[in-house]
Amino acid sequence: MEEQLIGIMGAIPQEIDGIIAILQDKTATTIGNRTYYQGLLGKQQVVVVYSRIGKVAASATASALLLHFRVSEIIFIGVAGGIAPHIEVGDVVIAKDLIQYDMDVSPLRPKYEIPLLNKTYFETSAMRSNQVKQHIESFLDPAVLHTKIASDELKKFAIDQPKVYVGTIASGDQFFSTDIQKENLQQALPQVLCVEMEGAAVAQICYEYQVPCSVIRTISDKANQEASFSFESFVQKISQVYGQEIIEKLFQ
Ligand code: ADE
Repeated sequence: MEEQLIGIMGAIPQEIDGIIAILQDKTATTIGNRTYYQGLLGKQQVVVVYSRIGKVAASATASALLLHFRVSEIIFIGVAGGIAPHIEVGDVVIAKDLIQYDMDVSPLRPKYEIPLLNKTYFETSAMRSNQVKQHIESFLDPAVLHTKIASDELKKFAIDQPKVYVGTIASGDQFFSTDIQKENLQQALPQVLCVEMEGAAVAQICYEYQVPCSVIRTISDKANQEASFSFESFVQKISQVYGQEIIEKLFQ
């Protein structure tokens, strides 16, 4: 049987550099302005890539993973802005399903539905999500977390007892940096836990190719006025550690 290859994506280098750093027998291939790093994580062959930001960039990258590398599954890992009031910086959200909040061809079809696919929510792999959740819970245990990230860094982001949630993630081509953006989304889609710019696009492509997909997002900011400051410093200091720890444990 042909060996299965798993695709691991992030949007920006800071989301996946920690994973690329621990790949064994690494090779790099550049296609369409993206560099795909193939190698071993434990015994698992993986290909790791950052797509750059937004739904178009992410869809193109997911398609290359599927068509060129023939991956059997895609795992997207990165950061997101918290939308639900109980979500804090440092928490992790695993997508149960994802929606493209900026898709709207109403009145032709209901708002948010993807035209001609007749689908609004894209589900993720329940098996992979359950497995990831267990690893994240042990990593987020304060006794473990403080051995991985300096306490003063955790303090800067008021990360105390971070939690992991499973629920709906919304994706679209906007960085949320105002209360208005956040409140509009809360009102329109009250079940949404966090917002980002790629996940639902990757989930759509995986659905169309019938390949399992998972999306794991660490909360870097609260999708409000402080979002850009919080996002910039979080991705410099923290997101690589989360990404590396979560993915490494999966394939140990
Ligand atoms: N990813 C991380 N933070 C975000 C925000 N505030 N808006 C959109 N995508 C994000």
